[in-house]
Amino acid sequence: MFSCIHNAILDQLSSRMSAARRPMQPMAEHHAQPHGRLALVTGGGRGIGEAVCRRLAASGYRVVVADIDGDNARAVAEALGEGHHFRQFDVSEEAAVEAAFDDVESKLGPVAALVCVAGILLMPGGERSLIKDTTLEDWERTFAVNARSVFLCGRAYLRRREVAPVAHGRIVTFGSVSAQLGGYRSSATYIGAKSAVLGLTKAMARESAHLGVTVNAVAPGLIDTDMLRGTVRSSGALEAAAANIPLGRIGTVDDVAGAVDYLASEQAAYITGNVIDVNGGYRMQ
Ligand SMILES: NC(=O)c1ccc[n+]([C@@H]2O[C@H](COP(=O)([O-])OP(=O)(O)OC[C@H]3O[C@@H](n4cnc5c(N)ncnc54)[C@H](O)[C@@H]3O)[C@@H](O)[C@H]2O)c1
Repeated sequence: MFSCIHNAILDQLSSRMSAARRPMQPMAEHHAQPHGRLALVTGGGRGIGEAVCRRLAASGYRVVVADIDGDNARAVAEALGEGHHFRQFDVSEEAAVEAAFDDVESKLGPVAALVCVAGILLMPGGERSLIKDTTLEDWERTFAVNARSVFLCGRAYLRRREVAPVAHGRIVTFGSVSAQLGGYRSSATYIGAKSAVLGLTKAMARESAHLGVTVNAVAPGLIDTDMLRGTVRSSGALEAAAANIPLGRIGTVDDVAGAVDYLASEQAAYITGNVIDVNGGYRMQ
């Protein structure tokens, strides 16, 4: 009896030791994980959205590049290669969003990851407008493209996931450091709209948790895109801005795409209703 127990303990110890001696298995190949999952990226035609499309495609997603600029969306999808698609629609229009989701899902299958990158920063006359000078039209358009769009695309996604659930469903939205700081490079309308996105992200996270869908935002800081360059006209302004960033540089589109890729991955399964700052420490407290 004693020798049986003794042998069993020895067996266990020896198998644990040989496991410990075994060479470390390489980490599960991250890029292989989402193979075939469908990602829909709004604002995918240029800037950060384009980088998100490239990154998700490299990670094994089939990507639908969505943008109001159909030529850009097509060019990005073509550059990604076979198995990737584009759709041209305005994310602020209810009927267009519903039609795009119907079309995409009937032809390509359920969207697993929705990434709402599309946004605008209106700069009438090349300047950020102060509240006293802001027209109602600019207020409404800014909210429609930046915030209403997240409601419309998020709602279209969640309605369909109630009927056709997917494993590891994901929504990633785009806030901005300007909403967190009351930023001085953008406008009050933009700050208001991006603040709405941050609240909506949390509300969506609560309402979609029962589906296993996580909803998170990224809040980029100063990222080198056409949008940012539209806010700084004097030469040297970007370099001056970089001096106030702890990591000492303006961010790249790939910095942001990496955060989105992580949030969309299975590794981020227990993160929801959260905001990931991608700002080089700009908002560090
Ligand atoms: N660049 C930055 O420093 C910065 C900082 C904070 C947040 N952001 C946010 O990141 C996101 C991407 O910014 P970016 O710098 O790449 O901007 P960008 O202007 O370079 O790209 C935005 C894309 O969205 C598309 N788009 C605009 N309106 C649309 C609509 N109604 N329907 C569909 N597509 C539409 C545009 O055609 C464009 O391709 C935006 O939400 C922006 O507010 C950017």
